[in-house]
Amino acid sequence: MTSRIPGFYKLSIDERLSKVKEFAGLTDEEVTLLREMGNLDDKTADLLIENVVGSMAYPFAVATNFMINGKEYLVPMVIEESSVVAAASNAARVMRRDGGIKSIVSEPIMIGQIQLVNVDSPYQAKMIILEHKDEILSLANEQDPILVKLGGGAKDIEVRLLDSRIGPMIVTHLLVDVRDAMGANAVNSMCEKVAPYIEELTGGRVYLRIISNLADRRIVRSSVKVYKEDIGGEEVVDGIIAAYAFAESDPYRASTHNKGIMNGVIAVALATGQDHRALEAGAHTYAARFGWYSPLSVWEKDEDGNLVGYLEMPMAVGIIGGCTRVHPIARIGLKILGVKTAKELAEIMGAVGLAQNFAALRALATVGIQKGHMKLHARNIAAMAGAKGELIDKVAEEMIREGKITFDRAKEILEKLGS
Ligand code: MEV
Repeated sequence: MTSRIPGFYKLSIDERLSKVKEFAGLTDEEVTLLREMGNLDDKTADLLIENVVGSMAYPFAVATNFMINGKEYLVPMVIEESSVVAAASNAARVMRRDGGIKSIVSEPIMIGQIQLVNVDSPYQAKMIILEHKDEILSLANEQDPILVKLGGGAKDIEVRLLDSRIGPMIVTHLLVDVRDAMGANAVNSMCEKVAPYIEELTGGRVYLRIISNLADRRIVRSSVKVYKEDIGGEEVVDGIIAAYAFAESDPYRASTHNKGIMNGVIAVALATGQDHRALEAGAHTYAARFGWYSPLSVWEKDEDGNLVGYLEMPMAVGIIGGCTRVHPIARIGLKILGVKTAKELAEIMGAVGLAQNFAALRALATVGIQKGHMKLHARNIAAMAGAKGELIDKVAEEMIREGKITFDRAKEILEKLGS
């Protein structure tokens, strides 16, 4: 089945949903859940967080046209900002050649930190901890036999010495393969388990025992070639490269550049129940890993004048545990993607981030982003004024031509068109 569905945006919500149902093999019950827009029941809401007094729904959409590693995907996106889903779908349409966007993800290694202070001889303490690596790892792994059975678990340690304002600090990193989980629970429990042993070994005092959101051992790398003739020629390619060069030279621009990437990444994260704050934290820290803030993607030109994009960022996502299993809509999001592993989800999210970034840079380097926004805005106003089917586009186009996008004008145009 193909994710290339021309005119998807022109269909009614029910028509779109029936296409998604067919694509992803959704059940009638899942379709009903998605359709009941305020879809979190009291029991589930109360289970997820404390002091619940209600729930709040966001629009759930799918981006079409995605081909990633040669596979077709309809990509679920939850976001409140107009144009993002349309932009992702448009970008994905010109990224389908040669098997589409390529994504590769590393092994799912997360880092847990154990902070040790009050040690007289930090280097000696570091050596003692390293000498007891095997004991530390087996203690950590006793904490999560199921993860170990699945091939994951604590695999290695690193010991770092920090010179802090309160004196030397010895930070032990526990490197944990978390398999299909985001990993915070597993890693935090392991850190808490081994902390007393580290105190015992060194005579120091442990304070923090917690995962690091700088997931720089869990990296997705996505790349794509966009043929110049598919995007309006080499001038557009040059414009996109100039936009990238701007972001590379200026943190004010890099921030917005990366925001565009996160528009895609976080929309998929929300639709699949991920810890999106962890993703944001990891992304921005990674962007600053050289000591200055830089763009997470790179755009360059190949020898034939085509555009080549590359994105690299941490991607700590899971398909088991937490919200991914409890939230009924997150489960449907994962089902629409058809992902079987957290690695595949990470590969998709890297690809969506890259496509979203391309869409923004292309618009910015050519017509600007307001044109697209205005088109969507005009369509919304036309629909609110009562336009249906093809009339939505007709009324919207007329309003854009006149430069007057208002509810009253939409009504007048509708009357003029005889409906
Ligand atoms: C808006 O949500 C995102 C953009 O600002 C991204 C960018 O400027 O690259 C359009």
